[in-house]
Amino acid sequence: MKKKISRRNFFKISGTIGLGAALESCALRKSENILQTHPKTEPMGHLVTKPIDTVKIGYVGIGNQGSGHVMNLLRIEGAEIKAVCDMREERTLWAQEQCRLHGKSIPAAYNKGPEDYQRMCDTEDLDLVYNATPWEWHVPISVKAMKTGSHAASEVPGAITLEGCWELVETSEKYKKHCCTMENCNYDRTELMLFNMIRQGLFGELLYAECGYLHDLREYKFGNLYYPPDWRLKYSIKRNADLYPTHGLGPVSQWMGITRGNKFEYLVSMSSPSPSLSLKREAIKRYGEDHPRAKTDYALGDVISTLIKTNKGQSILVTHDTNSPRPYSRKILIQGTHGLARKYPEQKIHIEGLSPSHKWEDLSEYREQYKHPLLKSLEEKAQGAGHGGMDFIEDFRLIQCLREGKPTDSDVYDGVTISAVVALSEKSIAARSSPVKFPDFTRGKWKSRKPLGIVTA
Ligand SMILES: NC(=O)c1ccc[n+]([C@@H]2O[C@H](COP(=O)([O-])OP(=O)(O)OC[C@H]3O[C@@H](n4cnc5c(N)ncnc54)[C@H](O)[C@@H]3O)[C@@H](O)[C@H]2O)c1
Repeated sequence: MKKKISRRNFFKISGTIGLGAALESCALRKSENILQTHPKTEPMGHLVTKPIDTVKIGYVGIGNQGSGHVMNLLRIEGAEIKAVCDMREERTLWAQEQCRLHGKSIPAAYNKGPEDYQRMCDTEDLDLVYNATPWEWHVPISVKAMKTGSHAASEVPGAITLEGCWELVETSEKYKKHCCTMENCNYDRTELMLFNMIRQGLFGELLYAECGYLHDLREYKFGNLYYPPDWRLKYSIKRNADLYPTHGLGPVSQWMGITRGNKFEYLVSMSSPSPSLSLKREAIKRYGEDHPRAKTDYALGDVISTLIKTNKGQSILVTHDTNSPRPYSRKILIQGTHGLARKYPEQKIHIEGLSPSHKWEDLSEYREQYKHPLLKSLEEKAQGAGHGGMDFIEDFRLIQCLREGKPTDSDVYDGVTISAVVALSEKSIAARSSPVKFPDFTRGKWKSRKPLGIVTA
């Protein structure tokens, strides 16, 4: 039966709707403020700190990725692991054993629960706190590190909310500490070679790029390969966003000089069906239709496409897909006025005047000529290290910069700018792909900051 609405009730209801709309617009304004917040601290150009002869390190989170970094740091001159922290005692024991096997002194262990990194920061005299923990811990650990006098480095993404991005910026500026989002793909051999080619003008003026993270993680999400086992799956349940934008955007933003003479202006994002069809299908396949996991809705759409516009007018297509059956790819396509190159599925290039007309060439033909100097000097040492050696090169560069007191290759502004895509893409998807403005984390300094050059080891 239809309920009749009296004139009085009509005004009551419409008043409530009006109040609701006002509250909503107030909440929107508040979130816009968060988006454009200006911390009370002063923006920095490039942070230069006192050289550190031996970098004393506290390592937090020694799981899949953290163990690789611990092994790298044990092989890097001038790096000393003084403390290790993980909720699981077996992991700190493992790290201590690795130090012993490498003839190093045994680091102190912190494993009394998820907040024990605080005790480590309060107790130890550390130059660097580096963490590879689940995403929700990156900001609290980095902030605590900087507040207690250490530089901070964290695995990607550096932050998964805009508030978190600003907190990293403000703390880094207040305490004058480096805060690095450690994007290893910046140091992959092809990305380094393309960087070198771009800086030498081979592609002319840059116009367009494609990148992303397309990695079938179903086994990781539903299996026991993470600790706690379901930390990544929880994000697939809660958020429909590009949850992992930095592997592709890290190199592309370095090439385009983002935060250094150029900046991201706005983005639009679109999701394939949400809730995810692929994760539901996978859960039914693994557990049967009656299992709670099969009945769960996974908010994360299988393919998230984001288009970013830069201040110089370039456009970048970023794709995220961690739910579907597919071979690994980060796409990586860079196009300029003189030609273009791509990395996946096969490495190809076409440069006007060098390549046969209208035809691709193998990128390998250019490899020796355009090999990045970092690779020339570190290739041998990096062999056998995580992800084809690039993780070693990124760790080496971090320690080298701290030892020399030089700005890090990627700093707090670079890290939060590429990480902000998590929150911004979510906002755009929720608003039917409306354009969402990027915050300028540098507050105008992007105009005078120098693009990263071709660094050497
Ligand atoms: N750059 C890359 O190529 C790459 C590859 C894999 C993972 N990652 C990143 O590394 C991070 C960790 O991923 P993973 O695959 O190693 O996950 P994981 O689950 O294997 O490891 C996480 C570790 O952190 C520990 N931990 C969790 N919360 C903690 C806390 N509060 N204090 C101390 N220890 C805590 C866990 O016990 C576990 O050992 C993530 O941010 C992920 O995005 C990056």
